[in-house]
Amino acid sequence: MNRPFSNTILGLTAAAAAIALASGAQAQATYPDRQISFIVPFAAGGPTDVIARIVGEHFSRSLGQPVIVENVAGAGGTTGITRAATSRPDGYTIMMGHMGTHGAAPALYPNMKYDPTKDFTPIGLAAGTPILVVTKKDLPVKDLKEFAAYLKANGTKVSEANAGVGSVSHTTCTLLHAQIGAKGARVVYRGTGPALNDLVAGQVDYGCDQIVNLVPQIQAGNIKALAIATTERSPVLPNVPTSKEAGMPDYVVSAWNAVFAPKGLPADVTAKLVGALDKALDDAGTRKRLLDLGSVIPDKAGRSPAALQKLVESEVARWNPILKAAMATEQAIEKK
Ligand code: MLT
Repeated sequence: MNRPFSNTILGLTAAAAAIALASGAQAQATYPDRQISFIVPFAAGGPTDVIARIVGEHFSRSLGQPVIVENVAGAGGTTGITRAATSRPDGYTIMMGHMGTHGAAPALYPNMKYDPTKDFTPIGLAAGTPILVVTKKDLPVKDLKEFAAYLKANGTKVSEANAGVGSVSHTTCTLLHAQIGAKGARVVYRGTGPALNDLVAGQVDYGCDQIVNLVPQIQAGNIKALAIATTERSPVLPNVPTSKEAGMPDYVVSAWNAVFAPKGLPADVTAKLVGALDKALDDAGTRKRLLDLGSVIPDKAGRSPAALQKLVESEVARWNPILKAAMATEQAIEKK
């Protein structure tokens, strides 16, 4: 991909190249000596933003420089990730990608400007985020089976909130629709933070969202949780049935959020960021904040850059046929 700021030394004399390398090495030894921009490809207040702010706060402490979250939303997260991927690979721009931007999106955007498997330096997995099917509190259904019947009966009179094509909310509801054989009218937001506000206000009817966004609103009774799409219940929402318990055993899906930097990050800068993520995820206060929101914190092996690279490669391969089939089913539903 086009990388306008890549650290090429082609065309320099050997001496100039040596000086450039020496000063580069020196600059990296002092990394970081100024603020770091942490790009979140969705609106503030949503799950990706919340995880980035919790982890980023610990990064600021351990790296000794401010880590500033920048929300660059649009196109299901691919706008912000494109911007971050084409930034200078110097450690001063990092990003929070997720199952959508780095797993599902290639199946849905044929002209995507980045390749999740090739254009990044993986730093590490930050959090696993189970998916829940949620509705506004007065939708007249009491469980997932009634919801499926309601959706079949009412189709596009029912509205579904999501964060854009390729986002976690969009892809996981696409799967739900394919399994139910019905879909609502899709309402697109710049993230599920603002989508949730409208769900609480009763302006949209349902959505599929990451647990991190939902726990306080479910606990307060402001929205209804019909099922969690994992094989076991979440300890923070013990009353919410699994999709299997709720009668849809095949609806099992979860998401993840992970830290990436642009491709070509120097090894010592990578090591500092990997160390910072490790420290954040081992910190009792940071862990508690993530766990209270229902996140699943990866163990040391699961959060390593190599494990993240493997995860991205397997997710891109896995989602491609699943989403193409689910989208075809959705299109067939629309034609009925
Ligand atoms: C967000 O932070 O808004 C989400 O991660 C959106 C999504 O992918 O559904």
